[in-house]
Amino acid sequence: MAPLRNTLLVGFSLIAVVIAALLGLQQTPLIDDTTYCYDHVSTLAESKPVAKCFSVGSDGTFTRIYASQDDAPDAHVKISGSVIPGLWDGHGHIQGLGELISTVDLFGSTSMEDALQRVSSYFEKHATSGTREDWLRGTGWDQAAFGRMPTANDFDKIPGLKDKYIMLSRVDVHCVWVSHAVLKLLPDIPEKVPGGEIITDPGRGVFCDNAIDLVSKHWPKPSEEKLASWIKSAMKEMNKVGLVGAHEAGVIPPVLQLYNRLADTEDWTVRVYAMLECEKRNTFCPEIGGKFTGARQDGKLAVQSVKLFADGALGSWGSAMIEPYSDRPSSSGSLLINGTDLKLITQRWAQEGYQVNIHAIGDLANRYAVDAFLASYPLICPGMSAKECQATRRFRIEHSQIIHPDDQARIHKFGIIPSIQPTHATSDMAYAEARLGPERTSKEAYRMKSFIALNPILGSDFPVEPANPFHGMYAAITRRNPKTGKGKDGSTDGWHSEEALNLTEAVLGFTKNPAYGAFLEEKAGVIQPGAFADWVVLESPLEKLAADDLLTLKVQQTWMAGKLVYAKSNKQ
Ligand SMILES: *[C@@H]1O[C@H](CO)[C@@H](O)[C@H](O)[C@H]1NC(C)=O
Ligand SMILES: *[C@@H]1O[C@H](CO)[C@@H](O)[C@H](O)[C@H]1NC(C)=O
Ligand SMILES: [Zn+2]
Repeated sequence: MAPLRNTLLVGFSLIAVVIAALLGLQQTPLIDDTTYCYDHVSTLAESKPVAKCFSVGSDGTFTRIYASQDDAPDAHVKISGSVIPGLWDGHGHIQGLGELISTVDLFGSTSMEDALQRVSSYFEKHATSGTREDWLRGTGWDQAAFGRMPTANDFDKIPGLKDKYIMLSRVDVHCVWVSHAVLKLLPDIPEKVPGGEIITDPGRGVFCDNAIDLVSKHWPKPSEEKLASWIKSAMKEMNKVGLVGAHEAGVIPPVLQLYNRLADTEDWTVRVYAMLECEKRNTFCPEIGGKFTGARQDGKLAVQSVKLFADGALGSWGSAMIEPYSDRPSSSGSLLINGTDLKLITQRWAQEGYQVNIHAIGDLANRYAVDAFLASYPLICPGMSAKECQATRRFRIEHSQIIHPDDQARIHKFGIIPSIQPTHATSDMAYAEARLGPERTSKEAYRMKSFIALNPILGSDFPVEPANPFHGMYAAITRRNPKTGKGKDGSTDGWHSEEALNLTEAVLGFTKNPAYGAFLEEKAGVIQPGAFADWVVLESPLEKLAADDLLTLKVQQTWMAGKLVYAKSNKQ
């Protein structure tokens, strides 16, 4: 599609512009600015919430906002449609999304036969995959759909796959299912792995949480070229649904170095707020990550946070609970790190200047995350109150899924930021109450409205859930599953709809709140002078849409740093 930019060649001398600017003559556009007008612009800025036009400077930021088309310079580009600020996903995995697009998609597979069929048809198209150097990969299976855990034997049913190297991640990526060829690489499988599980019933083949390392250390790491192509396809997919930015919840140092190079290229069309993750989880590795690199001038990549992991996921009974699971009374899940060590590692990263973002799903993990932050404030902000310290460092809890009322109160008291995925609530509602029982479900689980005063960051955890932020907004405002439009067990009611947000709150969760959580307030998630010129064009104003419209809504255009990065073709 032809670029819409049309550089103004207004015959001002630079001096005139400077004088005009000094005198505050607001109507004078800068020479290199381009002005765009739309039917409607929702800026989310307090001073001018609704506008018609805006100018974009050559540095890719907004320079001027115009309430009416008459105020805008005559030489402007008029495009039909309604604009909102570019959207951000507060917790996603870009590399994982790219890999998902390029490997077997097992999401929504309804039976073992269905899953194996998908593997088989992928293999037909990619006959060279499955070697020792290039394992056949996929993501999205769920044993709940199989009626039992899968095993390595299951692959033997597919012709041609018997000796192939296969590793398929569970829907929540907390377990992998591997083939016999992979098992043969592991001669001495231990009985137990702390913080992990080796499944043996009904047979071998599945490794969960910390036990995944036994397998993944043999997995041939993708080449840089392959990684770069994954990132590119993931970013295209994200632009298509209106995303201009993402908080990537865990990027290891070598990938970060690749990102730094890719961020200079045209293919880098999404801003990335990367949470550093050490190659060995929950350790300390600032020297490898490149000590606190902060943000690039162009705002396309920033590293000033670290991702730690307190526990696993609810689906596989891996999240760490204060009390045992209701449907597995012998277990209360497992911590990936004990409370003492979580405190120590949090303090170390905090003292190094990092924002610390802790993955915590179960109520015990969330409790220890709060404890770890509380233990860090006095070290990093002597003489400040815990609340003031938290406001400067913005520590976050990633997922914040099941939280004891006492800890909800502490999170409120100190202003700890919850980073929430509304579609996790609507995917997990099928089994959450079985795991937790009615009491914990109604008092502790999947809070959203209860946390609204904390400006929760919303996201999808893509590729675990689809990246489409409008589906996230739908889940947040209806507490129904965007895939079915239904609540729990096919009900038309939302699941615990007392925790539903309204649309404004949901939109903030994908704009201003992630901006704040990335130290980008006034720069991202808002259309105002000085902010990144990132915007999304919709057919009609977002605030006019009904909940169901969010499910079918198609983004018309996505712009990042003043450049068109996605345009819907007329055929779509
Ligand atoms: C926590 O874990 C570390 C390392 O595994 C161990 O050395 C320490 O004793 C544990 N502390 C407690 C209180 O369990
Ligand atoms: C949404 O909730 C906020 C409070 O968080 C309230 O101020 C606003 O009026 C509500 N918006 C709508 C459209 O109900
Ligand atoms: Zn995640």
